[in-house]
Amino acid sequence: MLQQPLAAAKPPPPVHVAIIMDGNGRWAKARGLPRVAGHRAGADAVRRTLYACRDLGVRYLTLYAFSSENWKRPPTEVEDLFGLLRLYLRRELAELHANGVRLRVIGERSRLAPDVVALITDAEKMTAGNTRFTLIIAINYGGQAEIVAAARRLAEEAKSGRLDPAAIDEAMFERFLDTHEIPNPDLLIRTSGEQRLSNFLLWQSAYTEFLFTPTLWPDFGREALEEAIDEFHRRERRFGAAGE
Ligand code: IPE
Ligand code: IPE
Ligand code: MG
Repeated sequence: MLQQPLAAAKPPPPVHVAIIMDGNGRWAKARGLPRVAGHRAGADAVRRTLYACRDLGVRYLTLYAFSSENWKRPPTEVEDLFGLLRLYLRRELAELHANGVRLRVIGERSRLAPDVVALITDAEKMTAGNTRFTLIIAINYGGQAEIVAAARRLAEEAKSGRLDPAAIDEAMFERFLDTHEIPNPDLLIRTSGEQRLSNFLLWQSAYTEFLFTPTLWPDFGREALEEAIDEFHRRERRFGAAGE
């Protein structure tokens, strides 16, 4: 008797998706709108993408919101971006918490306005016990600065005699990064057609699958995410081992 073929088991979703949200300015320009309109539309895309990730079984989402190099932009645009961030944190926090989302922010905080730092620390405290989903927002983040800060702290530990330099290995180094206790990203998506990392998650993306899409960030959402995850499932990850 012929056996019924078993339905192909759905492969598990990536545990951690990281996104370089790019193209807000071009989205606005194409519509004859000011850049801030693109950033506003980008905030809506964050909402759509976050809940789509959760529904698809992703556990961690890291979003690159402001790089350590984005201070090079005109002060008015920097103000607009932080204005939107304040608005996002105030408006979305209760809903994030109700949905079991834990919020973490990575990046250097000393250059941020005190009220932004307070909003971040309060949000992190409020959601610290949530385990369903972790949203990591990179603000004033740069991968090189993160690695240098970790090296500096390790050097201080060694100098004070609390640490033997010979004991430093990758696992220990990772504990000094902003992303400690967060698994490395499985899939990294960059929108808007640019194909570079722009100082994002340099250490953590050692074995990440990269996906570059021409879609501009404000147009990104559930459908684009599903396509990205389908592409991820077509990849063969080897981690240095021999292929099949
Ligand atoms: C991404 O969109 C948002 C941030 C970098 C904060 P951009 O503002 O970089 O948009 P483009 O690249 O100019 O289109
Ligand atoms: C990277 O985008 C940073 C964020 C998305 C926050 P940019 O638009 O700043 O990157 P470059 O300047 O094109 O490399
Ligand atoms: Mg850009």
